[in-house]
Amino acid sequence: MAIDVLFRPFSCKGLNLPNRVVMAPMTRSFSPNGIVTADVALYYRRRAEGGVGLIISEGTGVDRPASLNDPNVPRFHGAQELAGWRRVVDEVHDAGGLMAPQLWHVGAVRTREKDWQPPGAYDSPSGLSRPDKNLGVPMSDEDIADAIRAFADAGLAAKRSNFDAIELHGAHGYLIDQFFWEGTNCREDAYGGINLAERARFAAEIVRAVRKSVGPEFPILLRISQWKQQDFAVKLAGTPRELEAWLTPLREAGVDILHCSQRRFWEAEFEGSDLNFAGWAKKVTGLPTISVGSVGLTGEFIAAYGGESSRPASLDELVRRLDREEFDLVAVGRALLQDPQWLLKVRDGRADELMAFDRSAFATLS
Ligand SMILES: Cc1cc2nc3c(=O)[nH]c(=O)nc-3n(C[C@H](O)[C@H](O)[C@H](O)COP(=O)(O)O)c2cc1C
Repeated sequence: MAIDVLFRPFSCKGLNLPNRVVMAPMTRSFSPNGIVTADVALYYRRRAEGGVGLIISEGTGVDRPASLNDPNVPRFHGAQELAGWRRVVDEVHDAGGLMAPQLWHVGAVRTREKDWQPPGAYDSPSGLSRPDKNLGVPMSDEDIADAIRAFADAGLAAKRSNFDAIELHGAHGYLIDQFFWEGTNCREDAYGGINLAERARFAAEIVRAVRKSVGPEFPILLRISQWKQQDFAVKLAGTPRELEAWLTPLREAGVDILHCSQRRFWEAEFEGSDLNFAGWAKKVTGLPTISVGSVGLTGEFIAAYGGESSRPASLDELVRRLDREEFDLVAVGRALLQDPQWLLKVRDGRADELMAFDRSAFATLS
């Protein structure tokens, strides 16, 4: 299979990518007190030097007291924090790369730290961290308005800090996704509802507010997932029609690119077709999409947390799908975490130099 398809350029608004490979957002927890360090900047620079088309940062917290549940995850508000990010984006640009921050609010996903708590109450649509598990109180109208404001401010800060795009984290059971999911959104006001289109209102208002703050030409990516960290089996949309009802208001609000998170990119989303999640999202919205999940590796990422190693895997199936334009871009997580040179090795056919993924890579910023 011709690997060249990975190296076709891609454009969206002012974002001109030299190839189809995106670095997937990966939380690294190497930013003490929420401020990225020089080492973090160099970590991203190495991926830019490795030829990655677009780097999406680790999730970074918007300006709400409990937007993050880990003190070593970087924030995206405050003078020192934003100055740190400016150094990151300067390093990436200096190496010829392009970058988007992933703007994040964890919602009611509890901290794993024993001796630390977020400086404020957890935000969530209905006080639930998962169906039937209470972690707090539902957000008030004022809380919701302030959360929307926080995303809009972060979008503007990204543009002013010279980033090339932004990604909103609407996936994996965090705040925006907690609104999408009927299991955690039991609200009876305008932010709840019996169908996905209604429960998409919070996300759509965020997108609209961000669009207003960044202007019409700045690319907005939205990451979504059917699965939740709270329950891998959840499917928000059970049919293509439901998928369309979910995503149409988000496109209309101003999303430019949908980043469709799967754990294994080759899995079909609905019966009767081999299209994956990104394939269907592209088909029902007409928007460009990013696919992701175990690209270039034999095992998936949740198992990697549990200690499972992965060996390098063939890219033939990915290339086949890219070539038929099922989706437009492909995000690569662990293969790039393990090896900043991964894409150059793929390009040059240096298959014997591709590395296995080992959990020890989580412990360093190499
Ligand atoms: C260490 C690590 C941290 C992650 N952090 C985030 C994150 O902050 N935001 C996010 O949307 N996904 C996060 N993910 C998921 C990845 O973006 C990606 O979807 C997943 O790793 C699958 O890609 P892969 O199989 O190529 O690793 C993380 C994954 C890993 C391995």
